[in-house]
Amino acid sequence: MSSPAVRPAPVPPPADGTAARARGLTKAYGQGETTVLALDAVDVDIARGRFTAVMGPSGSGKSTLMHCLAGLDSVSAGRVWLGDTEITGLRERELTRLRRDRIGFMFQSFNLIPTLNALENITLPMDIAGRKPDPAWLEQVIDTLGLRDRLTHRPAQLSGGQQQRVACARALASRPELIFADEPTGNLDSRAGLEVLGFLREAVDDLGQTVVMVTHDPGAAAHSDLVLFLADGRIVDEMPRPTAEAVLERMKRFDVVRGQVDDVRGRVDDLRSRGDDARGPADGVRGQVAED
Ligand SMILES: Nc1ncnc2c1ncn2[C@@H]1O[C@H](COP(=O)(O)OP(=O)(O)OP(=O)(O)O)[C@@H](O)[C@H]1O
Ligand SMILES: [Mg+2]
Repeated sequence: MSSPAVRPAPVPPPADGTAARARGLTKAYGQGETTVLALDAVDVDIARGRFTAVMGPSGSGKSTLMHCLAGLDSVSAGRVWLGDTEITGLRERELTRLRRDRIGFMFQSFNLIPTLNALENITLPMDIAGRKPDPAWLEQVIDTLGLRDRLTHRPAQLSGGQQQRVACARALASRPELIFADEPTGNLDSRAGLEVLGFLREAVDDLGQTVVMVTHDPGAAAHSDLVLFLADGRIVDEMPRPTAEAVLERMKRFDVVRGQVDDVRGRVDDLRSRGDDARGPADGVRGQVAED
């Protein structure tokens, strides 16, 4: 966090329609020359009761943004609110309670507990909180995600897609007001993927929940109300009422940049292969080319 001397001017509390908000959100990993600026002074408002998609090239900061908005990761600078509660500066215990009560998180890497079976994984957050799941809702989540006959299996006994569905069920089971889903359809076949997307859509339309979803798939993004595009740790564009075609067109512009980067890399490798004299300048160029 910044020192009091350079603290930014107070930001007004978020409007009623904001489920999560960040101002000047900056996240750096590492120190000195190896520092990676994963988020670079991001300002974002996540509308309550809406389905927001986050897209962008690999390494652009999508997962980091989700983790910081959900209070799972500390920020290097800037401020984050969940509803009208500022979470930057909250003590760990308060933050844990807030996360438990209000947030469901589907991790890119599932984060299932290997020694617990599917059902135990699904209800774990509520078990920790000492809360009973709503049985009808839990049944609906389990059936919609096709997990009925897998409930007693441990993660190692499940396919990648089934593990993803368990992670999805775990995020939805307590009916949190805010759901963060990091590539929830990444490992699913198209039918199961569509079901998960339909489920997230219903959570927004029928239950008034707020969903923020990272995806690389324009078809998945088309289920959202708004797409935020990230590049190099910054929000560079947004698209309300997205269609798969429009998102694909927008993504191609990233590919053009990526193609140029690959081109520079190729030329750097050419220079390298020509001998020691080329190494200095080649390293200089390479340093400017962001690694994934
Ligand atoms: N724990 C960490 N330590 C060091 N660097 C990290 C860490 N986590 C992320 N990064 C770096 O921060 C940048 C953003 O990472 P992030 O995981 O947010 O990207 P992403 O957009 O989610 O990518 P992907 O689409 O591949 O999941 C990357 O350059 C990554 O290498
Ligand atoms: Mg990611």
